[in-house]
Amino acid sequence: MTKKLTIFIFSFLFLQTAFAQSKAWDRHATFGKGMNLSWLENYWNGTVENGFMDYLNMNSVASKHHDLEVMKEMGINTLRLPVCFDVWEDGEYPYEIDMPQYFMALDSILEWSEVLGFNVLIEYHHGSLAENNLEEETERIIAIWKQVVERYGDRDPEKVFFEIYNEAHDIEFSDWQNVLEIIVDSLRAFDEDQTFIVGGGDYNSVRGLSNLIPLEDDNIIYTFHYYEPFLFTHQGAEWVGAEVSTIGVPYPYIGSEMPDRNSLTDDTWGENAYNDYSKHGNLDTLRSWVADAKLWSEVNNRPVFCGEFGSYYKANDASRCRYTKAIRAIMECNDMPWCYWEWDQGFSLFDGAVPGLDGLSDCMLDAWEIPPRDTTQNNVLLNDPCRIYPNPTENILYVERTDLDVPMVLNICDPSGRLIRGMTLCVGLNEINISDLPTGIYGLLFLDMDGDRLFGRKLVKH
Ligand code: BGC
Repeated sequence: MTKKLTIFIFSFLFLQTAFAQSKAWDRHATFGKGMNLSWLENYWNGTVENGFMDYLNMNSVASKHHDLEVMKEMGINTLRLPVCFDVWEDGEYPYEIDMPQYFMALDSILEWSEVLGFNVLIEYHHGSLAENNLEEETERIIAIWKQVVERYGDRDPEKVFFEIYNEAHDIEFSDWQNVLEIIVDSLRAFDEDQTFIVGGGDYNSVRGLSNLIPLEDDNIIYTFHYYEPFLFTHQGAEWVGAEVSTIGVPYPYIGSEMPDRNSLTDDTWGENAYNDYSKHGNLDTLRSWVADAKLWSEVNNRPVFCGEFGSYYKANDASRCRYTKAIRAIMECNDMPWCYWEWDQGFSLFDGAVPGLDGLSDCMLDAWEIPPRDTTQNNVLLNDPCRIYPNPTENILYVERTDLDVPMVLNICDPSGRLIRGMTLCVGLNEINISDLPTGIYGLLFLDMDGDRLFGRKLVKH
């Protein structure tokens, strides 16, 4: 091979890698804060006799408009919409959707979302794939998706996304890989523009993602779900079982607040998780587990986002707020958008209250960084591009930035101006542990990466 030809081939390969996925990267960059609106996947509201096909009461559609408006007020950009398409048809070839009226529910959500400016991820929830039905189930999933794509494939691809399958499990990684490639290839033939969202096996875990080989299709955003530490996030979750029956587990681990272990967890995974919680129930450990997803994204040059995280309502509110903040901080520092699970059911951020800003506890308002509202101006949100809170604080300080889309430096100084600590702040939410600083007043000095001063603030440490 001549030298010129070699250079040409290498340049071509380099450019291909550099530009691969650029559409998906650009769209991924618009996701921001997201919310799972669980509702259209609640098949259990149907009857067994009807194969759950009668699960959706169309009268429930209208109230969702208000929900979307509240989400907008909360600064949410992306709506993830789990749908149990699995029961929209009766399982008979050629798998034609028998409940076409259900599409009207989706139509309404899409119309309202368009007006409100949301991205919408239409997601295939509660599929029936298993090792023993791979071939026919794959065919069925494709047939169902084709009908969905036929209806929504001409929507704005910058706004409407198709998430192929939720939490594949009990399938070998290699089989899942195979099925996924078949589904994506078949659908791509019908839809050139829409970005598909796909995750790995093992319930969309980080491990599942790490075992996934990126698909050849270059218009894909990859996803994972994050519910670690499971002992905390799923405490008391009836559908999980005895392993998670210890209730009152705090986040982070606080020895004096730990409940006694429920004896139902004896000899189960839940006993070990309880014993390990002092090591695992903290930000650094959670961050280290997410690092594998980030690594996968970087090594493969593929955009990744966290499609579900959250905690069950049986955990205490203060812990749920701290957990929300911690996961947000991890994802945002890793440039991974996220969707909270979920709006108004068991993992709801409203903790049983009617969805609305008034239904959020103070700590949840804080965890969502819902900017202070001006009560004299009809509750208009006040826009502070760099929020620093709580202030005064004792242990943790949050700095949320939406001002510049580049890192900046924060120097913490004592009253005489002596530098105590310096760090780089990422765009989005930063969590800073200041528990080791003596009580007192500090100066917070924000600098750009060249060391030039941007602005300063005062911090009171209790
Ligand atoms: C499931 C929900 C469950 C949540 C947390 C979702 O993917 O569909 O039913 O509450 O994960 O476990």
